[in-house]
Amino acid sequence: MISTGLASIAYLGAAILFILSLGGLSNPETSRRGNLYGMIGMTLAVLATIFGPHVTLSGLPWIIGSMTLGGTIGLYAARKIQMTQMPELVALMHSLVGLAAVLVGFANFIDPAASARFGIAEKAIHEIEIYVGILIGAVTFSGSLIAFGKLSGKIGGTPLLLPARHWLNLLILLVVIFFGWRFLHSQSVEDALISLGAMSVLALLFGIHMVMAIGGADMPVVVSMLNSYSGWAAAATGFMLSNDLLIVTGALVGSSGAILSYIMCRAMNRRFLSVIAGGFGTTGGRLPSVENGEPAGEVTPISSNETSELLRTAKSVIIVPGYGMAVAQAQHTIFEITKHLREQGVDVCFAIHPVAGRMPGHMNVLLAEAKVPYDIVMEMDEINDKFAEADVAMVIGANDIVNPAAQEDPNSPIAGMPVLEVWRAKNSIVMKRGMASGYAGVDNPLFYKANNSMLFGDAKKMLDEVLVSLRA
Ligand code: TAP
Repeated sequence: MISTGLASIAYLGAAILFILSLGGLSNPETSRRGNLYGMIGMTLAVLATIFGPHVTLSGLPWIIGSMTLGGTIGLYAARKIQMTQMPELVALMHSLVGLAAVLVGFANFIDPAASARFGIAEKAIHEIEIYVGILIGAVTFSGSLIAFGKLSGKIGGTPLLLPARHWLNLLILLVVIFFGWRFLHSQSVEDALISLGAMSVLALLFGIHMVMAIGGADMPVVVSMLNSYSGWAAAATGFMLSNDLLIVTGALVGSSGAILSYIMCRAMNRRFLSVIAGGFGTTGGRLPSVENGEPAGEVTPISSNETSELLRTAKSVIIVPGYGMAVAQAQHTIFEITKHLREQGVDVCFAIHPVAGRMPGHMNVLLAEAKVPYDIVMEMDEINDKFAEADVAMVIGANDIVNPAAQEDPNSPIAGMPVLEVWRAKNSIVMKRGMASGYAGVDNPLFYKANNSMLFGDAKKMLDEVLVSLRA
């Protein structure tokens, strides 16, 4: 067992490694190193906690047993889950952080040893920590479970808009404050537990209500917002357990999640408060291009041979990957095509939308996995002006992020969302299996534009054909 001083030094080292990890993760080129720092930091933190002054020898078997069980489940889930299912796994993980905060809160409150440590003023502060910790934890727990249900398609994406829902939320908040006051002035443990229990139920209901009211199209923001909440829940747990590292780590996760939510809101041209207020988005996956049984326009199909011909004769090509590329796992073939075209002197680059795919950085991860050089992968702001000079814009399994309705139709549900302006290229080719809508469930007028062609089929299969024909 190690001394308190050594444990504090280890915690400080772990906190520094976590900060370096976040710094590394902000850039694809340093992200591997960032991950490594995070892993070393976490190992250090866990070891310093297990062998630290707060754990007794008799507690060790319990900790090691739980870690083995949790680690096995985690390893199994991480190996089994597809990349496209990552956001729902992340949402599920957030729910566990919330649940942990709730359980630690209750355990801390009923543990006589925990409260015996404090004087009157400290006891009041400790009880506020418990109350707030359980509150954040319960909202995170139930909200994340609903987000998991929505992301995995187990719950529909349509927002649930109860009448007077904002008043309902306000009422819940007032009752939570009332129970908080009652909790702090309780004369007995039983009385306090009633207040704590009532608040927990209300917080769980609030979490369900908050996320149920948010439509499918806003789910990316909700996932990162819940990420932020889980950080604050962890920080609250840190306060309850007087664990400095948990406070620092929780605050890092909480604030980075909040910054990510802000970046995503900007990418979708949504105000954070209006996302939380809810109501935007649809069930997704319907066929909006068919209105009253009639298609909304004529599309021009193109074959894989014609596509390769267009690419062969182009001087500059911009590739726009989206969710369909991830589903089809087409990134390796895209890399081969890119390599071939660049060897022939064609200027090829990639355009990445901040919410392409189903999780932040989804496309960057897949392209990095396929070894696409970082210097030809551009963010939306850098590339949008370049579409006008491109001969071909090739859209691979993307839909919402290239939808011109965001700019052209003020009544569109995605009006105002910044999009990649592929229609400005001399030719655009959209590669997808049929005419289905994307995540936001809205029609895409790009498909009917005169300079656009549709290459129908699974992205991987069609790109394999394009590659064969390019090499022929
Ligand atoms: P989407 O708009 O969802 O469009 C993907 C398209 O891929 C679909 O229209 C689908 O059409 C096609 N597709 C599916 N499987 C395919 C396959 N095997 N081969 C070829 N095409 C296939 O994707 P996007 O443009 O990347 O936009 C992302 C959307 O997800 C945004 O609305 C965003 O807000 C939302 N979202 C993002 C995140 C984050 S953080 N990135 C998280 C959750 C939600 P077919 O069925 O006709 O093939």
